[in-house]
Amino acid sequence: MPGIERYSVGDLDPLARQLEDEGLRAVLVFGVGRTKDGEGTDAWAADGLVPQAVRAIKRAAPNLVVVTDVCLCAYTSHGHCGVVRRGGVANDATCERLGRVAVAHARAGADVVAPSAMMDGQVGWIGAALDSAGFEETAIMAYSTKHASVFYGPFREAEESAPAFGDRRGYQMDPRNGREALREMDRDVAEGADILMVKPAVTSLDLLARARERFPLPLAAYQVSGEYSMLKLAAERGLVDERAAVEETLGAIRRAGADLIVTYFARDVARSARTMP
Ligand code: PBG
Ligand code: ZN
Repeated sequence: MPGIERYSVGDLDPLARQLEDEGLRAVLVFGVGRTKDGEGTDAWAADGLVPQAVRAIKRAAPNLVVVTDVCLCAYTSHGHCGVVRRGGVANDATCERLGRVAVAHARAGADVVAPSAMMDGQVGWIGAALDSAGFEETAIMAYSTKHASVFYGPFREAEESAPAFGDRRGYQMDPRNGREALREMDRDVAEGADILMVKPAVTSLDLLARARERFPLPLAAYQVSGEYSMLKLAAERGLVDERAAVEETLGAIRRAGADLIVTYFARDVARSARTMP
């Protein structure tokens, strides 16, 4: 991805301080498995990369809100977001493992866990696992409306998490189905989600606006890797002005109803806010 790097745990002490100085309030942490196997066991290792990263960030910048992605795809040898049984992803076996991942992250000090595997019931399973481990205060940001989208391509390359067979349409949502998206959000609310998320952002503005009317919860929108890369490359080619394009798209996401925006442009936005006359 143009302009985006992956970091080692050792880089995070100076980086976290720098981000805080730049005015960022929160980070979303993704890990890449040190080992990959059929079950994704490295995802819930107590000393895994994400728990190590969370500890390093919290030590360096205690006020930065740390959100962690909870999924198995960067840890499974087949690249699917869950455990594969008889050629398909096994929903409940995956949910049970997602609960362990969330507890490992919470134990390391994560403030918010963000389940992105799109298993049915994952928010409820994760909430129950957190509660019984004594982490009632850890919030859940649910990737409620996560479409089976072509715009995750650059991220999968960066995270080495593309599925080795098939695709994710069995568990991610059909981008053309709006009512199903709202039903997923209803379900996440009933299961105890603290924040609802839609992604990709610009292809989900209608859902964001409808969710804004329907739920009194904080709403997040994730401007994903493909949305970022399109703007970045168009700007690099001189086709659009980057800063204006970023302001316009993030402004539209905000207008549609997002309280929180996850974006690869976060540091740029913070920088331009500081240099504003
Ligand atoms: C993993 C995950 C993905 C993204 C966030 N978490 C990829 C996928 O579902 O294939 C996409 C992020 C991005 O494109 O920026 N479940
Ligand atoms: Zn996944």
